[in-house]
Amino acid sequence: MSTPTKYLLQESQMPKFWYNIQADLPKPMPAVLHPGTMQPISPDDLAPLFPMSIIEQEVSTEREVEIPEPVREVFRLWRPSPLFRAHRLEQALGTPAKIFYKYEGVSPAGSHKPNSAIPQAFYNAQAGVRRLTTETGAGQWGSSLAMAGQIFGLDVTVYQVRVSYDQKPYRRALMETYGARCVASPSAETEYGRRVLAEHPDHPGSLGIAISEAVEIAAQRDDTKYALGSVLNHVLLHQTIIGLEAMEQMQMADAWPDVVLACTGGGSNFAGLAFPFIGHGLRGGTAPRIVAVEPSACPSLTRGKYAYDFGDTAHLTPLTKMHTLGSTFTPPGFHAGGLRYHGMAPLVSHVRELGLMEAVAYNQVDCFAAGVAFARAEGIVPAPEANHAVKGAIEEALRCKREGKSETILFNLSGHGHFDMTAYQNYFAGKLKDESYDERELAQALSGLPSVPA
Ligand SMILES: Cc1ncc(COP(=O)(O)O)c(C=O)c1O
Repeated sequence: MSTPTKYLLQESQMPKFWYNIQADLPKPMPAVLHPGTMQPISPDDLAPLFPMSIIEQEVSTEREVEIPEPVREVFRLWRPSPLFRAHRLEQALGTPAKIFYKYEGVSPAGSHKPNSAIPQAFYNAQAGVRRLTTETGAGQWGSSLAMAGQIFGLDVTVYQVRVSYDQKPYRRALMETYGARCVASPSAETEYGRRVLAEHPDHPGSLGIAISEAVEIAAQRDDTKYALGSVLNHVLLHQTIIGLEAMEQMQMADAWPDVVLACTGGGSNFAGLAFPFIGHGLRGGTAPRIVAVEPSACPSLTRGKYAYDFGDTAHLTPLTKMHTLGSTFTPPGFHAGGLRYHGMAPLVSHVRELGLMEAVAYNQVDCFAAGVAFARAEGIVPAPEANHAVKGAIEEALRCKREGKSETILFNLSGHGHFDMTAYQNYFAGKLKDESYDERELAQALSGLPSVPA
């Protein structure tokens, strides 16, 4: 019998707990600082923005956190997600490597983002919250929270980065289909948005600005909280269901990865796949190489500074220690909108500082070429963000070919690109450019990093 192409788990095999890597790390994370006092924050400081159950997850160091049954019930709409063996891509590349990918594009919103949107909406609804505000880049997170809000009876307002709002009109239609309101950011709805527009009426927006707008509204109203689609510890925790399932599925395939890859915007799908494998290594198991793949136009892990910085542009959020390009840095308008964030998840940054992972950066044209090669071999059209992971995996497979090694490669195909076909059209028309960031702007953004007492 030939080797299977898909490895599927039963609904009853879906994980019942998320995995918290903080329990296994050799060193705790640096403290999170209050933006006013520059002193470590307390859980109460976060209460205007998040319900206490989410704050508890944010600061938890327990290894296992139970996934509530109502959340698992919604997850059954698409989880467990499939693990594929990329036989046809292996053949197309002529590599002796075995390539596996975990496919998160099977969710209703088309990516891994509902893995955190569903529990965040659940905990907020449980706490009596009526409305959620959020930011979105590509629109994947916004549509995921829109769906989750509809399921748990919450009103959702999404501030979408202007350049993506214009590039992807159908994402907005999807958010509206789920009953949410989607506003281009910077907007005239918030004080901060109006300030940005007064200085730059054509500002393309950034995730940092959209976060400021969403936080500003949530902080003003008692019935409203804020939800973040990446970066924070609880979001990374929710995404570990990806890696926990993948571990079971690799065992079904009688295989174990030598290298694990995922793209990184704020770090959530990467952490989701990689952290359970890193934890396995930290507890004495076989440790694969772990590689984060980021865009060269917004390279927080490979070019950023490991320093305390704000999570948003208006400096409303607490300060965290992370790899950052500076909170005022506006990345160029390349198509992987979900990767256009100035910082990296503090937990991913900490794991990088501990030497437990590597990072590489690729430009967008090369990533689209990889995505097209993948689509022609495997059929699935990846989201522009996921193309970075595909590119990373193909590079590893070609290295194996050069070195004559049959290593096992596992990567996360974080979403499909059905709403991103304009970007593919531009690629085929030769209109896609490798937009690089402005070195002077980067230097300026980095020189403006906040000074924090030692
Ligand atoms: C398909 C897809 N992959 C990856 C990302 C990057 O986010 P993160 O690094 O949090 O996984 C996004 C963000 O919107 C996305 O839509």
